[in-house]
This record gives sequence, structure tokens and C-alpha cells, in this order.
Amino acid sequence: MIRVFPDLRDDDPILALFHKGVKGQWSASEFDWTLPFGFHEPEAASFARILTPVYLGEQTAMLGASTILQHFAMEHETSAELYITTFMLDEARHFEMLTRVYKLLHQTPLEMRDLREMFRYHHRLLKSKHRIDWLFGILVSDLFAKNFYGAFRKYFPDTLFGKLSVRIISDEARHQAFAEHYLGALRDELPHEVRDRLLEMRDDLLFIMQGMLRRLAPDAALVGIDGYAIMQELEHDVKRKVDILGLEQEEREAVLRAEEEAEHAAAAEASAELVATSDTSASE
Ligand SMILES: [Fe+2]
Ligand SMILES: [Fe+2]
Repeated sequence: MIRVFPDLRDDDPILALFHKGVKGQWSASEFDWTLPFGFHEPEAASFARILTPVYLGEQTAMLGASTILQHFAMEHETSAELYITTFMLDEARHFEMLTRVYKLLHQTPLEMRDLREMFRYHHRLLKSKHRIDWLFGILVSDLFAKNFYGAFRKYFPDTLFGKLSVRIISDEARHQAFAEHYLGALRDELPHEVRDRLLEMRDDLLFIMQGMLRRLAPDAALVGIDGYAIMQELEHDVKRKVDILGLEQEEREAVLRAEEEAEHAAAAEASAELVATSDTSASE
């Protein structure tokens, strides 16, 4: 796993993302915590509840990054190893910031028993032995976070959480870019069983999110956020990523059909050539 002089190409796009990640670092002390929050009871309590799934996602992304670093090292993917260290610091910062938000509001997140399925999903990700599964699972979870923060940026731009959301979203944009680059490069090599596993994971997470949304919809409405709109955006974004990665059955079958046709055409061409050659040698 450890190599003295690992390969690191200057033109590797993931190395460029690592550089962006290094330059993009910032700390909680640079943020203006005196900005108004704009919530009083009972909105603050509702906000604390709807923030919980995102808060859990930030923590598990940070924890999972340490595991995935080893996987990248085992595959000798040095630029990905470097990049994931900035990802880990990003998620650590988000986790710390949200903890601070809870303290500022004198609120606590939901209990684990209220988020059992969500917790199970993240636990499954942490235990996953394949870096592709982890990355895809985190990608879906990150998309949810992006839309959640996006709603606060849009509807509460001048509040503390609105401003914080703007900063977090710029970190999340790097995470999306990495997932697209990394998984996109593997697009043509992914075995069908892996694609099926990823689609199953997508269905599981969207199902869990929908259940959670139903439970938290009254809280979201009280805060002034449209949970259903966030869910719709999430489904749209996930579909886009799935299309980019060519994971869906229909698209995959179309690619397989095209490959098969190309093989048939090549075989027909080869046999036609063979016939032509034998005709020529017979007439000689
Ligand atoms: Fe995050
Ligand atoms: Fe993230």
C-alpha cells in the first residue's frame, strides 16, 4: 500500500481538484457568528429537527473519508488519496459548524432512534468494501445536503444560516466535481452487478429520504422551507448523475446492443474478406 515514489501526473484533473481543495480551506473563526438567525421558538426547534439528517451526513462523510483513503492507497490512486484529505477537512468543518449552530440555538438534534433507517444507510456505507459504492452513496447524500443548504441560501440569504450555506455549498461543489470525475472515468468499466448495486443504493436512500420528509414536513413548513421541492430537486439531480454515469438499464442495454451490432458488423466484414481471399486463391 505504501510506495516511496508514487506516480502523480501534473495533468491529472483530480490533482487539480486537490489544489482547489487546499486553496478553498477556511475556518469557523473566519465566519461572522453575530449575524441574525431569524428564528425564535418554535421555529428554532423545528429547524433543529430538519437539520439532523444533514448533520448526520456531515459526520459520516468525515468518518468514511478515513476508510476510503486506505482504499485509494491500495489501488495506487495517489491523486485521489490527496484529494480525499481536503474532503475530510471540509466535512469536519461542516460538522463543527453545525454543532456550533445547535449550541447557538440552544437546541439538540433528533435522537438516533428517530433516524434509524438513515443511520443504517450511513452505517452500510461506512462498512462498504468498495470505494465506488461509498463514493456513490456519499454523492447522493451530498446532493441532498446541497439542496438543503441551497434552500436556505435562496430563502434566507441574509441570515446566519443562509450565509453559512453559501460557504458550505462552495465546498460541496468540489465534492460533486470529484465524484463526477472519478466515477465518470470508470463509467465504461463498471461491471453490471456494481451498477445494479449502486441503483439499489440510490433507491434505498431516496426511499429513506421520502419517509423522513413525510415525518419532517410540518417542521419544514414551520421554518418556511418546502421539503417536497427539496425532494424533487434531489430526485432530478440524482437522475442526472445516474445518466452521466450510464447506470440505468435502458441506457446500458442500448450501449450493449450497439457493441453487439459493431461486433456482428466486424465479424461479417472479416468473413467477407475471407471469402474474397479464398475466391482469389481458387481462381489462381
Ligand atoms: Fe458537507
Ligand atoms: Fe460533501
